[in-house]
Amino acid sequence: IVTFMDIVSFLKPKYVLMENVADILKLNGGSVGRYALSRLVALNYQSRMGLMVAGCYGLPQFRMRMFLWGALPTMVLPKYPLPTHDVVVHGGAPSAFSQSVVAYDENQKPTLKEALYLRDAISDLPKVSNDETADETMYSVKAETEFQRYIRLSRKEMLDYSFGDNKGPSEGMLLDHRPLKLNKDDYERVKQIPHQKGANFRNLTGVKVGQDNVAYMDPTVKPPCLESGKPLVPYYALSFMHGKSLKPFGRLWWDETVPTVFTRAEPHNQIILHPDQARVLTVRENARLQGFPDYYRMYGPIKERYMQVGNAVAVPVARALGYALAQAFQRKTEGNNNLMIVLPGSFSDVAMMRVRARASSSGAEDVLVGDE
Ligand SMILES: *[C@@H]1O[C@H](CO)[C@@H](O)[C@H](O)[C@H]1NC(C)=O
Repeated sequence: IVTFMDIVSFLKPKYVLMENVADILKLNGGSVGRYALSRLVALNYQSRMGLMVAGCYGLPQFRMRMFLWGALPTMVLPKYPLPTHDVVVHGGAPSAFSQSVVAYDENQKPTLKEALYLRDAISDLPKVSNDETADETMYSVKAETEFQRYIRLSRKEMLDYSFGDNKGPSEGMLLDHRPLKLNKDDYERVKQIPHQKGANFRNLTGVKVGQDNVAYMDPTVKPPCLESGKPLVPYYALSFMHGKSLKPFGRLWWDETVPTVFTRAEPHNQIILHPDQARVLTVRENARLQGFPDYYRMYGPIKERYMQVGNAVAVPVARALGYALAQAFQRKTEGNNNLMIVLPGSFSDVAMMRVRARASSSGAEDVLVGDE
């Protein structure tokens, strides 16, 4: 953050937007967050901080992040875009900053679109094995949900001109649908986790749970072993969070949302197993949970691809913030004292409208619809 602010100080851009995890406001009594804000103020920037939940913009993922806007005194300070979707809540904001959460007031009754679940995002993706290594495969079924129809649109249909003439993959091709390969021991373990909501390492043979919700190995039986001779139930799973965690080797379920897509894909201390396959979520499945259109291709070794996806600002959040920046840049929100703006009703539907328009006027691909 010191370096980030040094760069701001050197470049003096008209606008600044910084993102970080919400925990930055808890770290060392919130001093890191306060430092960022005070550096901007000392540089004569107008500034404002907001906590945004990615799921509120149409994803089956919670993901609360801190966004800091800055604007030179001659500019209009951008506002925060209010949610368009309901979301399943996973933990709140650091209490001293609950006022900074970008949300409707409790007494307001906005009409939000329904929360999304894992099924909405990935049910149409073909089955792949733990040792799949192909970077390109093919879709096997049609999109099953509105989200899937949207996320499968081509670069052109999404009105994305950010990569010049790059058209993206050819029709029917599916990119990066491959998982981090579990080693033989972990693969054996994962095969034994039931295909059931809430299943995790506690379902492995020999694990007991005490009245204090602490997992332990049944002392009356010999601990089961893997082919390699290693224990079926690893010590790190039993000891994680003093034995109280439900995360090691946890399976996601179709009707759940994901708290946060992380940068790593190991199943040892996070819930990342596919609901009914013996593997972790693929790079593509994680990318979908972050709202990346399917035409995005990730690069580098597989672990780096997961990092590219997990480190990103979720795409619909970035898009909503971009809209807010454009509104401020065009001085459309000047003199409006609200800290937040409502996104236009069609905001998350623009590309969908285009698909429908294309379907109803066959061939007329370049017809623009609505306020595009
Ligand atoms: C898995 O464990 C949970 C509780 O820990 C239990 O409710 C469930 O029935 C178990 N599933 C199977 C298939 O044994």
